Amino acid sequence: MKSVSSNRELKQRVGMNAADFVQDGMKVGIGTGSTVAFFIEELGRRVKSGLNILGVPTSYAARMLCLEHGIPVQDSMLSDRLDLAVDGADEIDPYLNAIKGGGAAHSCEKIIASMADEFILIADETKLVSSLCRKFPLPVEIIPPALSFAKKQIRLLGGTAELRGAIRKDGPVITENGNFILDILFSDPPENLERLDAELKKIPGLLETGLFLGIAKKALIGFQDKVELLLPKG
Ligand code: A5P
Repeated sequence: MKSVSSNRELKQRVGMNAADFVQDGMKVGIGTGSTVAFFIEELGRRVKSGLNILGVPTSYAARMLCLEHGIPVQDSMLSDRLDLAVDGADEIDPYLNAIKGGGAAHSCEKIIASMADEFILIADETKLVSSLCRKFPLPVEIIPPALSFAKKQIRLLGGTAELRGAIRKDGPVITENGNFILDILFSDPPENLERLDAELKKIPGLLETGLFLGIAKKALIGFQDKVELLLPKG
């Protein structure tokens, strides 16, 4: 689903710049993905030089990277508020609504983004779109018994859901919560994303969608010639 090497330099610049938002004493939500990996690397350098922070990672991958880079971590189970959370995205619209979940971590990512006083998206320019759900399939996490019924209900909402298959393992991706991921494509993408999100969440067994609506108030974007801080349109 993801090409880790795509736009490596842009991701690196943006990930490193994002570390400037982190101040001494902060409790910081740490996202998942190849852009955040550069953020973690830079944070690790700053921790070695004396920055005192506590990271709350959104996945095993983020947790392992934090530990490798010497960043002290706390499990999100023990957190109910963060100063800041920084995470990547698969698509970002002009209002800074986003699709996440390309790495199947969006349920935990949404919990951590929602408990942060400030949530900042970091991405390269290829993630910017005029409207969501037109290019990148929308991931939803479902409990396994819901598979067929959830697919049918999603069809009634105008989407086609595909069970995400694992790479180097037979069968489906199993999330860190022991569940499946459905990736949804819409032939006629819905304009009203809040309604779509609400309708999807009514499906029994559907735990969380990859729609991050109104959560991010800033996005740090890497362009070929600059890194720019975007605010929501309007
Ligand atoms: C993980 O589930 C995702 O939400 C990632 O944050 C998103 O896919 C962005 O990843 P990259 O920074 O690797 O593009």
